[in-house]
Amino acid sequence: MNLDERLENVSVIGAAGKMGSGIAVLLAQELAKLKAHNQGKIYKLNLIDVNDAALDGLRRFIKAQVTKVAEKSIVALRSIYADRDDLVENWEMIEAFVDDAFSVIRFGSDLKMAADSLLIFEAIVEDEAIKIRVLKELNELCGEETLFLTNTSSIPIGFLDEQAGLSGRIIGYHFYNPPVVQRLVEVITAQSTQQELRGIGAELGKRLRKKLVPANDISGFIGNGHFMRDGLYAIGEAERLKDKYSLPGAIYIMNRISQDYLIRPMGIFQLIDYVGIDVFQCILQVMRKHLGDSTLQSDLIDRMAERGILGGQRVDGSQKDGFLKYERNRPVGVYDLEKGEYQPIEGKWKEDLDAAIGPLPAGFSPWRNLLREPKKEEKLSAYFQNLQGAKTFGAELARAYLARTKEIAKKLVQDGVANSEEDVNSVLTNGFYWLYGPINDYI
Ligand SMILES: NC(=O)c1ccc[n+]([C@@H]2O[C@H](COP(=O)([O-])OP(=O)(O)OC[C@H]3O[C@@H](n4cnc5c(N)ncnc54)[C@H](O)[C@@H]3O)[C@@H](O)[C@H]2O)c1
Repeated sequence: MNLDERLENVSVIGAAGKMGSGIAVLLAQELAKLKAHNQGKIYKLNLIDVNDAALDGLRRFIKAQVTKVAEKSIVALRSIYADRDDLVENWEMIEAFVDDAFSVIRFGSDLKMAADSLLIFEAIVEDEAIKIRVLKELNELCGEETLFLTNTSSIPIGFLDEQAGLSGRIIGYHFYNPPVVQRLVEVITAQSTQQELRGIGAELGKRLRKKLVPANDISGFIGNGHFMRDGLYAIGEAERLKDKYSLPGAIYIMNRISQDYLIRPMGIFQLIDYVGIDVFQCILQVMRKHLGDSTLQSDLIDRMAERGILGGQRVDGSQKDGFLKYERNRPVGVYDLEKGEYQPIEGKWKEDLDAAIGPLPAGFSPWRNLLREPKKEEKLSAYFQNLQGAKTFGAELARAYLARTKEIAKKLVQDGVANSEEDVNSVLTNGFYWLYGPINDYI
């Protein structure tokens, strides 16, 4: 059965979630295109979520997103609707496309809706027991033809396959957040993953214009395999520096080193907050279990989670407080576990820490300025050369961080998580928006 045939009946489980809703938008567009080309054929996109209340929001989200994409794709729409003489104006084509998308969608909370699906995208919570239970239930409801694509961030695919009894009909299809915008999809094949599903995954990637990077079936895969260890390194450094600078001071220092000195889109503690401290903790737990590696643990993360300070985003997309406190999505404080309050990032407190770190090396440009800089490589190279020679405390911390980050990336290749250094660099540059890969000549 080819991809077009499989796309006649698709389900997304966990469709109202962060990832599921984005995957739903991508699929709604694909099915709308197919429908426009094959009038008369019936397409079904079942968007299923246990959270009934959130399905209303999902409907609005899909409408807004599909409309936005359609508005930007007038030329493509003119070609899709070339046979429709009744559609003349741009707005008519946009409306027709949104109508076609909505005509294939069915919203609901009952897994039974997925019974006839030929492709099922699973994007429910990162909880092994729940994922296995739901996959098992779906397997009982569906026929042998159904193929599963899971968005798990860390659970080995072979393990899910075995536990849910899917006989190789599952692949890891790890979209990055937000799926509509992010080009990267990490594709994880278990040894058992059926050949046909590997082919479907590859073709779907082309169709959705995603950059597919293969990862092997080792817990955490490439993205979290790197991110978790990178985060743990920064946490370890903060703990080492806390006696001299206090814990909030040390967190501020490591956040600044990772953002400014390493020219990343956000500091490492901001990134942990963005992902969610509880999500970070959960992924560590899954990796610790499957890799049997007790170092994948952090008391600091556990203490923050115990306090219920979790970061993550509100429904409107704004950042919730975590290690850092946010105002209009910008860090304005650092959490002090002893005092149970945020230390404001201002005044003498900030000045003293900035003075301890020292000035940034010559040639520094912030990440957003370099993002569209045509001579980005040249500028980065000159900056990192200056970093090598700099005598400041900040430069010393940054060099150690660069070296550790490179070591983590190389180990992912040595351990067979990634097939090549290029694949690791590709995940970090595409999925995490780094300007350069962790394996580089800068250190
Ligand atoms: N958020 C990210 O940045 C990100 C990035 C890549 C991968 N992932 C992975 O994607 C998956 C989903 O993550 P998320 O961040 O979208 O989570 P989320 O909590 O935003 O969404 C999960 C959705 O699943 C629904 N759900 C839970 N149990 C269900 C069930 N039994 N049946 C149907 N629906 C159910 C919930 O109601 C919720 O709407 C996880 O495996 C996660 O590890 C997340």
